[in-house]
Amino acid sequence: MKKLCNLGKLPLANNLLTNKNDKVKKYPLVVGFDKKTKLVGLMSNAPAEEMFNETYVYDSSQSQTMVNHFKEIAEKSLEKFKPKSVLEIGSNSGIFIKNFKDKDIEVLAVEPCKNFADKTSEEGIDTICAYWDDVLAESILKGYPDYGYPTFDLIFSSNTISHIHDLDSCFKGIKRCLSHGGTFILESPSLLEIIKNNIIDQFYHEHQSYFSIISLNQILIKYGLIIYDVEDIKVHGGSNRYYICHVNNYAQKDVSENLAKLVTKELEYGLDDYKKLKRAFENMLYNLDNLKKQIINLKQDGYNIIGYGATAKISLILNILKLDSKYITYILDTTPEKQNKFIPGIKVKILPYSKLNLNISNVCLLGAWNFKKEILAKEKEYLENGGVFITHIPITSIIDKDTILSK
Ligand code: TMP
Repeated sequence: MKKLCNLGKLPLANNLLTNKNDKVKKYPLVVGFDKKTKLVGLMSNAPAEEMFNETYVYDSSQSQTMVNHFKEIAEKSLEKFKPKSVLEIGSNSGIFIKNFKDKDIEVLAVEPCKNFADKTSEEGIDTICAYWDDVLAESILKGYPDYGYPTFDLIFSSNTISHIHDLDSCFKGIKRCLSHGGTFILESPSLLEIIKNNIIDQFYHEHQSYFSIISLNQILIKYGLIIYDVEDIKVHGGSNRYYICHVNNYAQKDVSENLAKLVTKELEYGLDDYKKLKRAFENMLYNLDNLKKQIINLKQDGYNIIGYGATAKISLILNILKLDSKYITYILDTTPEKQNKFIPGIKVKILPYSKLNLNISNVCLLGAWNFKKEILAKEKEYLENGGVFITHIPITSIIDKDTILSK
């Protein structure tokens, strides 16, 4: 891989501290480009066990947008594929897979974080608490402890494959587990949207790969898999939903025109071109620097600044910009497991979300900018009373009642 950008040595963004003075390990965060496959990915990696374990705090059910998102795709898949068996890789709180319960369908979830795996098991979904790889795939087919599954008609994985370090073992396992006519649906943040919208904060240790259609197809072909359809979806600041099948079943699929259209856009933005990508990173860093300047100016003008959403993204950018509790008084979040903990590195405290903590005299840095629509609708009253947000996506700017009205 050839280096695109070195973001420095940073703490693991989601490893929140219980006590302010807890020890924090830092790992290099370097993004690179693979000339052969055109994949953008991390050149170094932090140990998976330190990021995905029984203390993992990211719970997709905390956002109504995500609940609706997973219900919609589950219903659509049920209708379109009529699967007899479904496997989810990285099932988190069960937000997707629980839509397949009680339907005369074989359902299996794989989730490495024990807190979430226990939750879905207790809810009656067969869940294996493990990291996905080819060894696990083989054991599932052979009869993982007492299961023993046939291959799966539908394999679903949202925001998980991009976290896996060993793509070789990952895709070998998927190939092995997918039934002959089956579909593997992979959702992942879109590199095109990242580049178009300056989303520098998608680049954190948890995310190993940043797929484009171009790179994903290059990689899949090696394992006898191929993309036959793609949808651009809005979640996580712009993602792709890839529909993937066995190469030898491709002729039986309705190949979508969307594929060629989106590949043309990817080429326009230079997602296959090292020099253009390098320039895009320079722009992203410039925009982030503007955010720092704006925050420092607001602080000098006497404003109190808080964060809205203790996301991995806000943890990353505040650490890159070295903005600690001198600048950001606290961060609000609705997730109980995050509350009263501290962001690693810059040690800003996370407080429970409440109207009182939000308070119109505070300027809010939009940490959960990917839920901007949901949040601005929820905080109508705050905005109407003079409340102000600041965001760096797609460009550093202020959001208040006037800017919303002028749209
Ligand atoms: P994510 O960007 O990694 O999906 O995380 C979103 C975080 O933002 C999650 O911790 C929940 C939090 N959040 C709120 O606190 N309030 C909200 O209204 C929304 C939508 C999210």
